[in-house]
Amino acid sequence: MAASTLSSASLSQLCSSKNGVFAPSQALMGKPARTALVLGKARRGAKITCQATSIPADDRVPDMGKRQLMNQLLLGALSLPTAGMLIPYATFFAPPGAGGGSGGTVAKDAIGNDVIAAEWLKNHGPGDRTLTQGLKGDPTYLVVESDRTIATYGINAVCTHLGCVVPWNAAENKFICPCHGSQYNNQGRVVRGPAPLSLALAHADIDDGKVVFVPWVETDFRTGEAPWWA
Ligand code: FES
Repeated sequence: MAASTLSSASLSQLCSSKNGVFAPSQALMGKPARTALVLGKARRGAKITCQATSIPADDRVPDMGKRQLMNQLLLGALSLPTAGMLIPYATFFAPPGAGGGSGGTVAKDAIGNDVIAAEWLKNHGPGDRTLTQGLKGDPTYLVVESDRTIATYGINAVCTHLGCVVPWNAAENKFICPCHGSQYNNQGRVVRGPAPLSLALAHADIDDGKVVFVPWVETDFRTGEAPWWA
């Protein structure tokens, strides 16, 4: 608490209202200030005593430094969980990792297990063409040659017309698309439309006993042309 004695001139500067008439209530309802003036009884020519009352420290607005600190703490608290959610979300859309250092993908069987070449040949005889999961998850036929070895190429089963999965027809010795009747020979070369192109190829390598599909970027041995899918 502090008290001071003011002259009439000082009083008019600190306490006057718009209409020139002093009103204690107006002085208290004006723009917020650190102090409020409580005036004693005013009389012309007499000295007026003003009493300054401090507003409690708890009611003060935090200064800019404290605001910035609170903002930074809030930003940090929000950033950690946000980053925790974004990282798995981003990796979900990233291409699946390669199965080996050569950019290949280990073939998966119908229940998602790696295809072991020796085990596969026990259950799949010469001429067999069975679907596995290949590059980018595409359905890909694994071919067993007449000498009971796995062919060095796999055949992508996605029809080049409108994308149906083309089944193997052992009786016809062809791949015949059920959607619009396109046909491919036993190596996946198109022999009847409307499909415009042969089925895509992938290398089928054996790595550490497992079948690994690797992108085929060389000439298509069936047509002698550059691979349309590469
Ligand atoms: S999608 Fe195969 S013939 Fe149309």
